[in-house]
Amino acid sequence: MIKMIEKSTLEYAENLAKLEETLFTTSWDRVTINEKINRGEFLYWVYEQDDQIIGYLAIQKTLNDLHILGIGVLKDYRNQSIAKKLTQELISYFEISQFDKILLEVRESNEAAVNLYQSFGFKQYGVRKNYYVNEDAKLFQREKIYA
Ligand SMILES: CC(C)(COP(=O)(O)OP(=O)(O)OC[C@H]1O[C@@H](n2cnc3c(N)ncnc32)[C@H](O)[C@@H]1OP(=O)(O)O)[C@@H](O)C(=O)NCCC(=O)NCCS
Repeated sequence: MIKMIEKSTLEYAENLAKLEETLFTTSWDRVTINEKINRGEFLYWVYEQDDQIIGYLAIQKTLNDLHILGIGVLKDYRNQSIAKKLTQELISYFEISQFDKILLEVRESNEAAVNLYQSFGFKQYGVRKNYYVNEDAKLFQREKIYA
């Protein structure tokens, strides 16, 4: 089941931080996550199953744009369209929002994520050299399609 997380507690933010750490080895700390969600700056969608969060998509709201902070699904649950469902939630939210664009950076080598984003109409508009320690980032954006 997908839930939009607009309000958090420190305990819940800790679960989000742990999931991010499992997926990416680094994460925002729980205090920051908790504060930013509760201030309306970060917004998460989580996929829960058996009382566990197994996937998430996080965005940061800026003045005009939504910025994808991360998307991930635990290894054992991949290839079951969970990321697709999470991305669809973001797109539905965006299409009726006041924001102009969704922006993101992704590792050049991350074929799964690049395919996912392209399948939702994201277009590459640039490259940021050495954005990651050993790798360039592809920059993608998506404007409104249905508005
Ligand atoms: C990228 C990731 C979120 C995809 O999650 P998932 O739930 O397995 O993806 P889905 O099953 O919803 O697949 C959606 C689409 O993504 C693409 N995709 C997913 N896995 C893929 C793979 N191994 N190779 C190529 N394309 C892939 C496909 O376009 C797929 O659509 P299709 O099934 O119609 O071909 C997952 O692999 C992951 O968590 N990776 C580690 C974290 C990460 O790198 N996140 C992205 C950067 S923030």
